[in-house]
Amino acid sequence: MGYRAKFEVWRGDSSGEGALQPYEVDVNEGEVVLDIVHRLQATQAGDLAVRWNCKAGKCGSCSAEINGRPRLMCMTRMSTFDEHETVTITPLRTFPVIRDLVTDVDFNYVKAREIPSFAPPEDLAPGEYRMDQLDVERPQEFRKCIECYLCQNTCHAVRDHEENKEQFAGPRYLMRVSELDMHPLDVRDRKDAAQEDHGLGYCNITKCCTEVCPEHIKITDNALIPMKERVVDTKYDPLVWLGRKIFKR
Ligand code: SF4
Ligand code: F3S
Ligand code: FES
Repeated sequence: MGYRAKFEVWRGDSSGEGALQPYEVDVNEGEVVLDIVHRLQATQAGDLAVRWNCKAGKCGSCSAEINGRPRLMCMTRMSTFDEHETVTITPLRTFPVIRDLVTDVDFNYVKAREIPSFAPPEDLAPGEYRMDQLDVERPQEFRKCIECYLCQNTCHAVRDHEENKEQFAGPRYLMRVSELDMHPLDVRDRKDAAQEDHGLGYCNITKCCTEVCPEHIKITDNALIPMKERVVDTKYDPLVWLGRKIFKR
């Protein structure tokens, strides 16, 4: 059965000015928050800016904060809310607003570009790469990432500390560093880079990134903690330390 629900939607622009605007919108059975935003555009707020594409939880475009919780609008069913509650829809807080619900997520592209690509040994020709099936399977989970940036938006290390953005790559890109470090044929030193260049030390394992990931990737347990362990092993293992001193690695 349909009903009429109350919403508060952030309307604002890149000047930083804006406010929550109240709306009442019809809701039909089985609808998701993105359906409501589209109905709002069609009937009351034709100039409401929103980014979306697939409406299937796979493009990562429709990220927003619903009742303060980072979520995909197309995967959030209206049936999860009480019919009488006011549902608030606001843009991702960690990134600058362009307009209304659309944010500038350029931070993430910058961080992606800062990670050097996969580097196989020079004497291995394409076609000669060999690795264990286990090493093939282990990073598959990380490849499910749809780059929605909900984890990047949620991590307190940047959400509450704008000043850390320069040094901290965020969970999604530390996961990428970890994935490369796990690759048996990658010859780059990812461990020093994780600490020195990508800010692994800023992560204090709160796991908020994992909680909001719509792909249910265990970012903290399977990527960040193992990376931290490998960094510690290298840094504090006396034999590794001695070897590095001798061979000046
Ligand atoms: Fe989104 Fe999960 Fe990828 Fe983070 S790791 S960008 S939350 S899909
Ligand atoms: Fe941030 Fe995730 Fe670490 S939320 S603190 S990157 S566990
Ligand atoms: Fe593609 Fe929501 S519209 S993930």
